[in-house]
Amino acid sequence: MHDHFIRTAKIVGLGACLPERVLTNRELESLVDTSDEWIAGRTGIRERRVVADGEALSDLVERAGRAALADAGVKPEDVDLLILATATVEQPIPATSAIVQPRLGLVNAACFDLSAACSGFTYSLNVGRQFIATGEAATVLVVGAECLTRYVDWTDRTTCVLFGDGAGAVVLQAGEPGEGILHIRWRTDGRYADLICMPGGGCRYPPHSVESIEARLPFIKMRGNETFKVAVRSLTDLSQEVMTAAGIGPGDIDLFIPHQANMRIIQAVGNRLGLTGEQVFTNVDRVGNTSAASIPLAMVDARDQGRLKAGDLLLTSAFGGGLTWASSLIRF
Ligand code: ACO
Repeated sequence: MHDHFIRTAKIVGLGACLPERVLTNRELESLVDTSDEWIAGRTGIRERRVVADGEALSDLVERAGRAALADAGVKPEDVDLLILATATVEQPIPATSAIVQPRLGLVNAACFDLSAACSGFTYSLNVGRQFIATGEAATVLVVGAECLTRYVDWTDRTTCVLFGDGAGAVVLQAGEPGEGILHIRWRTDGRYADLICMPGGGCRYPPHSVESIEARLPFIKMRGNETFKVAVRSLTDLSQEVMTAAGIGPGDIDLFIPHQANMRIIQAVGNRLGLTGEQVFTNVDRVGNTSAASIPLAMVDARDQGRLKAGDLLLTSAFGGGLTWASSLIRF
């Protein structure tokens, strides 16, 4: 019923942070040639959150991390490892997780950032649970967080309407067999690296090079239509693979939390998996695509709405740049 681990890892606390500033579709109409009808109809997104001037990734990570530790009743000094999933680091050096560490008081934690775009949170869960399984760590804090609006090209209507900022966090500790993270499957296919990418800002096209800025390279680029088709196929296939590994069918799932990229993708995947509308959770209308923060933000929302309860069987599925994709089955 679960992957053959010596110890399973279970989620003992959750936390989230959304910046206060709400950016509506109507406001975007004054920035680019778009409309509320187009955005809502094609994506399901009605508004997203945007960091304020002076606010950055570490601020969101700190608040989500603090909330998850409080929810778990865990002292900061008891955290052995902080894994921060993000594609929008605060600065190239040091890791944003290291910037946050002293602010959260994680004095005994090793900290690193993990880059797998929208699949980063599930990738990080998979890494975190290995350390719990071996006994190398007793408590792991996993955070998925993004400041995508700082990397968005506000002149490109095909991408700027999609993304939002936020952070979600979970605390992992050892669980009994049959509870917690039962299965995770992850995949990468770098042949499609250019479908979703930010070509500039790294060592090939450094952020300070004039050519890079003139060619608008340090901005998120996405070939949306091609991505759409691969996303539906990948999310469906890997979710199916996880259910098969667990020997369960769609009727056994209490809640499905897919990556909140686009309502049409979410509905297509839910239908293909044989899930009812009630089994599928969405909050993309209010937060947009928050990449690595998407699934933990939705988990917190689902719990707050009473749709995710202790003992529920939760299926998650994420897809993003890399390409990367990953699915998990969790006894919550
Ligand atoms: N407002 C108005 N019109 C627009 C806008 C806009 N904001 N954006 C594009 N259009 C136009 C296009 O120019 C095009 O016009 P044309 O027919 O005259 O050329 C038309 O709308 C249709 O464009 P498509 O790209 O074919 O639209 P599509 O239905 O595919 O929707 C979207 C675009 C929403 C991006 C969709 O393809 C999508 O959601 N793709 C998947 C995104 C995803 O899952 N990404 C993975 C995670 S992201 C990450 O990893 C960071």
